[in-house]
Amino acid sequence: MTIRTRLVVSTFLLQVFSMALLGWGVLAVRRQFQDRELHQSAALIEMAVERAASDALIQKDDVALLSYMKFLQVQYPAITQARILWKNKGRERAATVGLGRFGAQVRESRFTVADPADPQRTVEVDLALDYDVLDAPFWDANRRLTKIILAVWGGTSLLGLLVSFLIARGLTMPIVELSRLAGEIGGGKLGGKLAWESDDELGGLVRAFNGMSGRLEEFDSIKRNFVSSVTHELRSPLGAIESFLQLIREKMAGGTPEGYAQSKDFLERIQVNVRRLSGFINDLLDVAKIEKGKMECVLRPMELPVVANEVCQFFEAKALQQGVSIQNRLAVLPAVMGDADRVRQVLVNLIANGLKFTASGGQVWITGEQFRDGGARWIEITVGDTGRGMDEADRSRLFQPFTQGRNVSEGVAGHKGTGLGLYIVKSIVDQHGGKIEVKSTPGQGTRISFSLKVAA
Ligand SMILES: Nc1ncnc2c1ncn2[C@@H]1O[C@H](COP(=O)(O)OP(=O)(O)OP(=O)(O)O)[C@@H](O)[C@H]1O
Ligand SMILES: [Mg+2]
Repeated sequence: MTIRTRLVVSTFLLQVFSMALLGWGVLAVRRQFQDRELHQSAALIEMAVERAASDALIQKDDVALLSYMKFLQVQYPAITQARILWKNKGRERAATVGLGRFGAQVRESRFTVADPADPQRTVEVDLALDYDVLDAPFWDANRRLTKIILAVWGGTSLLGLLVSFLIARGLTMPIVELSRLAGEIGGGKLGGKLAWESDDELGGLVRAFNGMSGRLEEFDSIKRNFVSSVTHELRSPLGAIESFLQLIREKMAGGTPEGYAQSKDFLERIQVNVRRLSGFINDLLDVAKIEKGKMECVLRPMELPVVANEVCQFFEAKALQQGVSIQNRLAVLPAVMGDADRVRQVLVNLIANGLKFTASGGQVWITGEQFRDGGARWIEITVGDTGRGMDEADRSRLFQPFTQGRNVSEGVAGHKGTGLGLYIVKSIVDQHGGKIEVKSTPGQGTRISFSLKVAA
């Protein structure tokens, strides 16, 4: 049985049961009142008979008692029989009014009335009352009440069935949809999300599911990017190395001085590709460390301008070759707390990006500025460029591993890369307790800033 059917059946049964209990309670209370009124009616008849007997004794008129009893019998059909026994100084005389009827509900009562002037003169009356007849007027009212209760019961049960169906449907619909989406995800179709908003537990479940589905899609795209990046980043330098080795072998076989000179050039190119390979492998090792939470930075006071200078010098030749100017605009700054190797890595990655996305005639620079945050002194280092910039969609994803912006697709300076640089940069800045921020306008350039704490 489905949850929806179970919910409908149980709420419906609960409602039917509680309505039945309520109806039964109303009828039981009604029955109590009815019994009390029944006994009052019986007492009223007995009182009338008793008074008639007493009057007849005082007036010494036996016949009057008999005719009054007949009158009472007509007035109260519940009187089935009255046996009257007159006693006067040992003499007795009996008379009976009514034929008598005997049934389960006929009850007899006996009472004796004495003449107040002559206690030896008494009248004894055995009165038989049929309670079925006394009860009869109440039954009509009871039947009407029962009909009303049944009508209300039926109406509310149908309404309850409808309401419980609607509630059950409302509760189970997102669950049914979630299980359908989970099945789709299980079958490999990732990214399914359910459009359902509510502030209750179901809303929470749907939000958690949508978040999980989004993360799974992200992981899947990272995995796909990872496979293609790794394949590309390993195959292309290896392919280049293999071709250059082949060329060197041919040139060497020729034994000519030009052949040797060309072989030297090929060796340099092999070295470039070996560097590219080892750089990629180092990045992969860093990612593995970050994922395991083992990327540790040892913070010591360090001079930022010195490191920035080294990095600018390292890229100078490449920038010159590209026709891009590279400037270290860091003024005299206080020492910061940092792991010099890791801060160098941050600057290398940021400047490499700047150069990659800036065409000939552009500029790449490093600036720094002091600021205070909650009593602590910080330095914000910015790497800026006048390159192609990026749009909002690219900006929101650039710190994810193996994720590159769409601006990489059109020819960039040098090789395309793998989308690991900024992921590693952000992890290092996080380890330093700093913040990283990106400002970029398509076609105008990019500024990526990160902060480091000033050494005490
Ligand atoms: N200075 C920049 N100008 C324009 N886009 C940038 C800049 N820096 C980063 N980006 C965008 O952010 C993306 C991620 O950068 P990231 O450094 O992580 O990877 P990558 O440079 O593509 O590859 P890798 O650094 O692994 O060689 C880039 O692909 C690019 O789309
Ligand atoms: Mg990069």
